[in-house]
Amino acid sequence: MVQTRRSILRAALAASFGAAAVALAVPAAMAQDTVKIGMIQPMTGPFASTGIEAVAGAKQYMADHGDTVAGKKIELVVKDDAGSANDTRRIAQELVVNDHANVLMGFGLTPLAFAAAPIATQAKVPMVVTAAATSSVVEKSPFIVRTSFATPTAAATMGKWAADNGIKTAVTLVSDYAPGKDAQDWFAKAFTDGGGKVAEQLTVPLQNPDFAPFLQRVADAKPDALFVFVPSGVGAPFMKQFRERGLADQGIKLIGTGDVVDDQILNNMGDAALGLISAHHYTAAHPSEMNKAFVAAFKTANGGMRPNFMAVGAYDGMALVYQALEKTGGDTDGTKLVDAMKGMKWESPRGPIMIDPDTREIVQNIYINKVERQDDGELYNVEQDTVENVKDPAKAK
Ligand code: PHB
Repeated sequence: MVQTRRSILRAALAASFGAAAVALAVPAAMAQDTVKIGMIQPMTGPFASTGIEAVAGAKQYMADHGDTVAGKKIELVVKDDAGSANDTRRIAQELVVNDHANVLMGFGLTPLAFAAAPIATQAKVPMVVTAAATSSVVEKSPFIVRTSFATPTAAATMGKWAADNGIKTAVTLVSDYAPGKDAQDWFAKAFTDGGGKVAEQLTVPLQNPDFAPFLQRVADAKPDALFVFVPSGVGAPFMKQFRERGLADQGIKLIGTGDVVDDQILNNMGDAALGLISAHHYTAAHPSEMNKAFVAAFKTANGGMRPNFMAVGAYDGMALVYQALEKTGGDTDGTKLVDAMKGMKWESPRGPIMIDPDTREIVQNIYINKVERQDDGELYNVEQDTVENVKDPAKAK
């Protein structure tokens, strides 16, 4: 008997997850009129801010560009994994097998992207990563394409800036999981290459961190600067404890990747955040006409919430899928869609972006931003400098 794609997939999924789970496997869907995008995000739990921003970003793209592409109707199906990798994996499987999703999208944290990658590979379904940022994420499946960022791009840019701007010693403080390790290592490499010295490397738990004992160690080490990486949302409790400890008064300059001052929480940090320098790929204050229109429309649609880099990652995730469908003439074959995504270039609210055809990784500008109060009385990350078209240094050949 000739094996169909459907039976191969069913067998592969059964081998991995048990036959009962995949009784009615598969995306039959080549000729269907609807393209289903299964978006998995933490909509509840400690990382809910990521999911809320991302879903709003994806919906904003559909509001701006309609819900029909190449004759196909786009359906966005949102599922909450609450930040649990087991749930991500189960939901990804259900989306592919039961809902016949043509594309998987989202993945709010690196462990969640790692959990879903084998499903994308077995089902041959494109997996658009709009949030998770560890460098190695895109290597976990040939069906992964990333529209967020790779942590080393921001961390290494910050390390070079610090060395070039009079900072001689630094302590690093990062969340204890894969992107934190990326941030720590790539900051240290660029900073020491530029002549700086890393005095101490501190890691804090990912969940419910108490920063106080770590900040005490920073105070004792008396570096010129503290470099921080925490994932989106966690910057608020960090900044509160940084302020309470009075490290800035001791002359310790705070620097980081832009995750610590993400746009959803920045304005509530108060004056303690003023002057903070960070390196990142998006700021709501990016001065392009496209971004101004994006920020205004997003705020109107979301009760005044400011878009952060998670919203833009998902906005561009949708842009990637729409443009790939246009290129394939509406063909939803996973391999054809991923091929269409390779090398794609477009203008995003963050600036010009491109998908590296060799790595399926985003190439984009990294901005050096400074927290300033603008005319509307709110705090923003204001661009001071731009490093153009940054490729992930961890993937340099
Ligand atoms: C990640 O888990 O990869 C991650 C999440 C949020 C960030 C950055 C990295 O802001």
